[in-house]
Amino acid sequence: MLKKEFAKRRQRLMDMMGEDSIAVLPNAPVANRNRDVDYPYRSDSHFHYLTGFDEPESVMVLIPGREHGEYILFCRERDLEKEIWDGYRAGQEGAIEQFGADDSYPITDLDDILPGLLEGKETVYYTMGHQPAFDQHMVSWLNHLRQAARSGKHSPHEIIDLEHSLSELRLFKSSAEVKAMRHAAEASVQAHIRAMQFTAPGKWEYEVEAELVHEFMKHGCRSPAYPSIVGGGENGCILHYIENNAKLKNNDLLLIDAGAEYQCYAADITRTFPVNGKFTDAQKAVYQIVLDAQKAAIAAVKPGNHWNQPHEAAVEVLTQGLIDLGLLQGNLEQLIADNAYREFYMHRTGHWLGMDVHDVGDYKIDDEWRLLEPGMVLTVEPGLYIRDPAHIDTKWHFIGIRIEDDVLVTKDGCEVLTEAAPKEVTDIEALMAESMH
Ligand code: GLY
Ligand code: MN
Ligand code: MN
Repeated sequence: MLKKEFAKRRQRLMDMMGEDSIAVLPNAPVANRNRDVDYPYRSDSHFHYLTGFDEPESVMVLIPGREHGEYILFCRERDLEKEIWDGYRAGQEGAIEQFGADDSYPITDLDDILPGLLEGKETVYYTMGHQPAFDQHMVSWLNHLRQAARSGKHSPHEIIDLEHSLSELRLFKSSAEVKAMRHAAEASVQAHIRAMQFTAPGKWEYEVEAELVHEFMKHGCRSPAYPSIVGGGENGCILHYIENNAKLKNNDLLLIDAGAEYQCYAADITRTFPVNGKFTDAQKAVYQIVLDAQKAAIAAVKPGNHWNQPHEAAVEVLTQGLIDLGLLQGNLEQLIADNAYREFYMHRTGHWLGMDVHDVGDYKIDDEWRLLEPGMVLTVEPGLYIRDPAHIDTKWHFIGIRIEDDVLVTKDGCEVLTEAAPKEVTDIEALMAESMH
């Protein structure tokens, strides 16, 4: 992503901030996996959004109107010995030249410099509560300034949650962001196709997961956006199943919920298909209901509709489908009003999608569902999960199905970014038949 894209985002935030204000945003801490091994580093999404800078131990400061530069980046100093062990560091020069900071200081000087930057400001924008260790520093700097107030120093009067303004900005994707999301979507589509081609009775769930990872990496996506769910048979009825360690059985379905992350942007796709390449009649009947519900929900994604309309559309089709199958008895409106579908559909139809798979952004404004607007990206992911309670005919037992796509709201309606992943019964069966020998 270009330097100027990040500059534009910082400018938009500063435009929202008002006079005599300062924003302070630390990057995420390193997470230890075990003893000398850390998890691969992933920047805090807000931090990456505003800086594009992906080194740990860094803090962004924005001071609109500051004469000596509005954007200050604290980061690690260059250190040849450390770089030989742990890799390249941009240092202060790199922060300015490559990342567009107006000023940059060593992170070790934060304690000396930041109180001076806070002094004299009216308002501090900060993501209080996200990083307890950094919160402590912030409180101590602010308290220090308060104590110094007696000697005439001016301490900030107001602390505003930076989270809210940033979430609003991030909810609307720029064309550069949509481009990155298209790439994540394309890598994920290819991964799902590869998984369908690979799957057969006797394979293990983790073998299928390996195919997904292979395709993600081949597209330059070094990590999934979230742990992949690869659940055969009854595991498909566990919403967040990530053990992925069972053997796939003939006549079972396989539910895969997996998406790649590209330049910190997520895709989030679910496909459900028969392990042996051919749906049974019972599986097909349930599958078609979920697919019809998903299409009805996608049709409800357009500017002017509110957030809950796709969910309502899905619930109506799912409930009618459950009546048709004999799994629910009664009147459609009444069953919907009673939430009777929840025995088989216990989650919502989607969420915002972006740098976080469950992305930031309010779903309601003043207690009303928010209207959809161009530039928002959401998932549409209805499902039906039939376990084995005594009152249900065994032919439906452990049919777990979810179909999930990523949808961009456009001026006239929407665009399904993940459309190329097969989901029609005939398309899935044809693709799998081709690859089975
Ligand atoms: N993969 C997480 C979700 O679908 O919400
Ligand atoms: Mn999702
Ligand atoms: Mn998902």
